[in-house]
Amino acid sequence: MAIATRGLTKRFDGVAAVDGVDLEVPAGSVYGFLGPNGSGKTTTIRMLLGLIDPTAGTWELLGHSMPAHAQDALTRVGALIEGPAFYPWLSGRDNLARLDAAGPDGQRGTRPARIEAALTRVGLTAAAGKKYRAYSLGMRQRLGLAAALLRTRQLLVLDEPTNGMDPQGTREIRNLVAELASEGTTVFLSSHLLAEVEQICTHAGVMSEGRLLTQGTLTELRSEGGSRLRVEVDDPVAAGPVLARLGLGDIETEGDIVTAKLDGQPPEVCNRDLVQAGIGVRALSVERPSLEDLFVSLTGEGFDVAR
Ligand SMILES: Nc1ncnc2c1ncn2[C@@H]1O[C@H](COP(=O)(O)OP(=O)(O)O)[C@@H](O)[C@H]1O
Ligand SMILES: [Mg+2]
Repeated sequence: MAIATRGLTKRFDGVAAVDGVDLEVPAGSVYGFLGPNGSGKTTTIRMLLGLIDPTAGTWELLGHSMPAHAQDALTRVGALIEGPAFYPWLSGRDNLARLDAAGPDGQRGTRPARIEAALTRVGLTAAAGKKYRAYSLGMRQRLGLAAALLRTRQLLVLDEPTNGMDPQGTREIRNLVAELASEGTTVFLSSHLLAEVEQICTHAGVMSEGRLLTQGTLTELRSEGGSRLRVEVDDPVAAGPVLARLGLGDIETEGDIVTAKLDGQPPEVCNRDLVQAGIGVRALSVERPSLEDLFVSLTGEGFDVAR
């Protein structure tokens, strides 16, 4: 496991911001750490990186138990967290040079090449000479990412990396994450935008009010949400009982469209039974639930609820 936590908990004034979280982030995965604003993502990440102490719980980074072996672990971890410390009066490029010089093993000889490579990867070459204070939020995020990429890392921890970015920037980050993953870097990224993350992750964990509701591969999570059958028929009143006999649940009818939870029943069997019952099937499809559907089914709430 690249990240493993047991009962990780943080209370602020007695209130749990993170409550008994057991994360399992496999090496080589792209893990989406999802949840609405205020659900405890940043607090969890701060604990993982040893920036704040947990109230309770234990955790390991890259097999090193933390915080005892923080030195060994953290040199292999790159991070982008809220509000990275850059000097406003220096250019993006000069900020990276300062940061690299201050770090533990930023070899001087390779520094200029590493800086240019990182700037290129995040698409900041053209703006590298501009002062940080003139950067937009999206450019600041890119510089933070470049800082995390100055050295080769086994694990990247990115807190809302697309925050403040336009759709084009978001696509670029997505491509960058895919590229890093293909090089073998484990990427753990948080987001409150489920649809966006769904496209790049192999695994996800869903947070709500400080608790990890569920985690697993995207395939596992989607099947947990439950695929739905959608049929367009000439006799919706007759179709409902046919699907019910097959064990489909949560049957809903709207006009000539009937939808129901498949619960493992193959769609072709549904089709056959409908046709055998003399019902004309005009269209049939299976709707895979999105992570957002899963979240709603787990919490009974819309996703964009701020605490
Ligand atoms: N330093 C702090 N002191 C008190 N409460 C905090 C502090 N940091 C975070 N919180 C609270 O913890 C909860 C989770 O916050 P956070 O981890 O930032 O969520 P997210 O990153 O998912 O938006 C929120 O209710 C927030 O107000
Ligand atoms: Mg946050």
